[in-house]
Amino acid sequence: MPKSQILGTGSYVPQKILTNHDLEKMVDTTDQWIVERTGIRERRIAAPDEASSDMAAAAGRKALEMAGVKPEEVDLLVVGTISPDMPLPSCAAFVQAKLGLERAAAFDISAACAGSLYGLSIADKFISAGQHQRVLVIGVELLSRVVDWTDRNSCVLFGDAAGAMLVGPSQGERGILSTHLHSDGRLAEILCIPGGGSRHPTSEATVKERLHYVHMNGREVYKVAVRSLSDAFAEALAFNGLRPGDLQHVVAHQANLRILEAVLKRFDIPMSRCWLNLEKYGNTSTASLPMTLDEANRAGGLKAGDLIGMMAIGGGMAWGSGIVRW
Ligand code: UT7
Repeated sequence: MPKSQILGTGSYVPQKILTNHDLEKMVDTTDQWIVERTGIRERRIAAPDEASSDMAAAAGRKALEMAGVKPEEVDLLVVGTISPDMPLPSCAAFVQAKLGLERAAAFDISAACAGSLYGLSIADKFISAGQHQRVLVIGVELLSRVVDWTDRNSCVLFGDAAGAMLVGPSQGERGILSTHLHSDGRLAEILCIPGGGSRHPTSEATVKERLHYVHMNGREVYKVAVRSLSDAFAEALAFNGLRPGDLQHVVAHQANLRILEAVLKRFDIPMSRCWLNLEKYGNTSTASLPMTLDEANRAGGLKAGDLIGMMAIGGGMAWGSGIVRW
C-alpha cells in the first residue's frame, strides 16, 4: 500500500521564446542539427528581473491551488535547483517567504536534473515517517544565467522553467509505489559548473576562464544517461513486479529525445506513452519532470489507477526512477 500520493501539480515558464533560428544567429549551429540531435525547437528564457524563486513560487502556487491546500498547511518545502537566487540562503528560503509557507521547514537539494525525483523520494519518505502531511516539491532552473552562450555544445540544450508537486498521505491504492535513487560522483566532471564554489572561488581569473558556466561532455553524459536510466527503470519495474507493458505513461526528465527513445526501445515501450515537451521548452533540468507531469495532468491525460513510470538523470551524476499509481 503506498504511503504518499501527489495531490496537485503546477508549472511555470517565462514568456520569452528563444528559437533554434534565433540561436543560429548566436553560435555556429542550425535548426536542423538541433532538431535531429535533440528534438528541441525552442526554449524559454527568464526576464531580466526574474529569479529562480519567482518561477518556483509561481509553479508552487498552482500546485497548492490544484490540491486545495492552504500555504499554512504545508509543513515541508523541498526545492531542487542548481541555479538558486544566491549561494546563501537556499532558494527554498525565498520560495517559502513568497508563498507564505509559515509552518514549513525549507531546504534545497542539489541533484541537478534528477532533483525533482530526489525531492519526490524525500517527500515520500518524510510522509511515510508520519511526521509530515503536506510536502511541496519544486524543481526550478534558470539555466540561461549559467550556460555559456558562446558554447554551441551546451547552450542549445537548456531552458528556464519551474515545476511543482504537492505530496500528501495516500488514500487507498493511489500513490508513490517506489522511488530508487543512485549517484556516481566519479563522473562529477562530465557535467559541472567549476567556478564560484570553494574549489575555484569567483575571481577575475575564473570569470576570464568562463568557469562559472556549465561545462559538459555531452557525448559522455549521453552514454551514461542511456545506461543508467535503463538500469534504474528496470529496477523500478522489478521492485513492483511490473512488466513494461503495464505502464500507461512514462514521465521522464526531458534531456534529449534520442535518450528517451533509446531507453524506451530497450523496454519495447512505444513513444506514444511518453509525455514530451522538450520540443517547446528544451532541457529544463530538474523542472522538466514535474512540468511534464503537470502538462499531462492538466490535459486530462492521467486517469485514476494509471501507472506512471518516472526517470531522471543529471549532473553528479545523479539519477533515479519511480513508479506512481495515479
Ligand atoms: O540533463 C542532462 C544534461 N545533458 C544532456 O542531456 C546532454 C546529453 N548529450 C546530448 O544530448 C548529446 O550528446 C548532444 C546533443 C549534446 C550532442 O549530440 P551528439 O550527437 O552526441 O553530438 P557530438 O557531441 O558527438 O558532436 C557531433 C558533432 C561535433 O562535430 P565534429 O567533431 O563531428 O565535427 C560537434 O562539434 O556536432 C558538433 N556540434 C554541433 N553542431 C552544430 C556540437 N554541438 C553543435 C551544435 N550545432 N549546437
